[in-house]
This record gives sequence, structure tokens and C-alpha cells, in this order.
Amino acid sequence: MSNRGAINKAVIPVAGLGTRFLPATKATPKEMLPVVDKPAIQYVVEEAAASGITDVLFVTGRNKESLENHFDRSPSLEQTLAERGAHEMQAKISGLAGLAAMHYVRQGVPMGLGHAVHMAKDHVGNHAFAVLLGDDLVDVSTPVLPEMYAAQAKFGGSILALMEVPEDQIHLYGCAAVEPTDDAHIVRVTELVEKPAPGTAPSNLAVIGRYVIDPSIFGLLENLAPGRGGEIQLTDALAQLIDLPSESGGGVHAVIFRGKRYDTGDKLSYLKSVVSIALDRDDLGPDLRAWLTTYLAGGN
Ligand code: UTP
Repeated sequence: MSNRGAINKAVIPVAGLGTRFLPATKATPKEMLPVVDKPAIQYVVEEAAASGITDVLFVTGRNKESLENHFDRSPSLEQTLAERGAHEMQAKISGLAGLAAMHYVRQGVPMGLGHAVHMAKDHVGNHAFAVLLGDDLVDVSTPVLPEMYAAQAKFGGSILALMEVPEDQIHLYGCAAVEPTDDAHIVRVTELVEKPAPGTAPSNLAVIGRYVIDPSIFGLLENLAPGRGGEIQLTDALAQLIDLPSESGGGVHAVIFRGKRYDTGDKLSYLKSVVSIALDRDDLGPDLRAWLTTYLAGGN
């Protein structure tokens, strides 16, 4: 069982091959693809920082340099912006390195999300920690991590964020069966299946890319056999946590997320995310909406 107390460390795995987004992801991590004017990963790190995370461990693969540079100071760029009087942008650029203490560990071979999380074992220690997936964006207006921390403080163990999805899409996600608790906002997870075959899902509740995890997961991940797709699946280790006694760090609860979320991991979802986020922005939304309306009506 973990030491109780505020959760301030987050693990962000960014070592996947991004095969659904090739060739764009051949030499660039998919988490670095721009969503309007920021790489996807910047939204995720800003969300973490706004939710009290002060320490981020990126689990990186090949091509990590662009990501590392993005969250580092850039004295010559900052100086050029200052000389040009672009002080607002200069502040934005220099502020990136201060969002959290950033650390990096290499995954080596991308053997799955569970394997990536296991790479964080030494850094995390014996304390509950957050995991945020870098291709899953949660709108700042509807944060979910604070609610998950509260659920962890109340029930202990690990906490997932679940989202209702149409039945014909649940096979694309990890899926959870749940039962109610005495807290209307929190459910107990009774079963977890990674990407269930069509027609076999125990519910329409999909696991989204935000987790608060008890460190007892590391011992389970060490002994886990490859699961779906031959990968070490985080969902399989979380499923084992369901049956582990609470004094050993077991128990999995979840909050149901009803806010806005954007997936940037595949081409169509990415395009939808970029358009939605741009439409919500005061500087771009009105012009983009006007153009889209004309364009869809056959104009250009
Ligand atoms: P995904 O399955 O969405 O990413 O993993 P992927 O494997 O890069 O994508 P495709 O399916 O080939 O297109 C979810 C998250 O876990 C990370 C990914 O970078 C992504 O942020 N991940 C996945 C790792 O860090 N290591 C892995 O071995 C697998």
C-alpha cells in the first residue's frame, strides 16, 4: 500500500511507435504533433501542472530530442523574441521549462503501455502517482485529476477515469464493468478488459488516458505476461489490482468523466480535435467557423 499524501508525480509515456499516424510519426513522436499552435503534449503537461503535479517523468523512445527541447529553456530564441519586443511570446516560451520538474527515462523497446509505466518504478517510489497519456487531451475547463485524487484519498488503491462511448466504439478502448459506491460520483471497478472483441464488452464505459495508480502495480507489471497484441498491457495489471486486498494496495475505483476530451492518436480523431479546439478559440474560432460553413456548402 502506498504512503498517503498529495499526489505530485506524473508519468507520461511517449515511447509508442504511433503507427496509426505514419508517416508523420516516423521521426517525430505523435505527442509532438501540433494541435493548432502547441504540440499535443504541451496541453497534457499544462493540465498536469494545473492539477498540482510538480514532477513529470516522460517515458521516451527514439526521437525524444524534440520533446526534450520543447520543455527546455531556449536562450537564443528567448533573446530574439525580447529584442523584437515579443514579450508575451517570450514569457510563454520561457515558462515551458518551469511547468514542472521534467525527467526522462528511455523505454528501449516499446513493449506496451504497462511496460512503459514499469520504467517509472525507481523514480516513483512507494507513493501513488498519476499517469497521463500524451495523445489524450482533457479540456482545461473540465479537469478530471482533482476528482480522481479525492477518490483516491477516500477509497485508496487506484483510480481510473471512465467515459461513456457508443457501443460500436468500445472495442477501441479498455472497458470497465462497475458497481455503485456510497458516493454518487465514484464507482467500484469489478472487471477490466483491454479492447474487447465486438459484442463481448461488459459495458460501454471506456478507460480514458488519466490514471491514479498505487505503486503495488510495479510488482504486478514485473510478472505480467504479454497480453493483447503481444504487449505488456497496463489494463491487465490494473485488472489484477481489482482482486488484490486493500492492505496490499489493491482496489480499483473510477470517476465518470463527462467533460470535454480530445483524442489525437489517429488521423480522423486528430483532425476533429484540431478543428474543435480551434473553433473554441476567440482568436481563430469566428473566422474558422465562417470559412467551414462556406466550405461545406461547396465554396472555398
Ligand atoms: P497507443 O497504443 O495509443 O500508442 O499507446 P502507439 O502504440 O504509439 O500508437 P499506434 O497504435 O502504434 O498508432 C498509448 C500511449 O502509450 C505510449 C504511447 O506513446 C501513447 O502515448 N506507449 C505505448 C509507450 O510509451 N510505450 C509503449 O510501448 C506503448
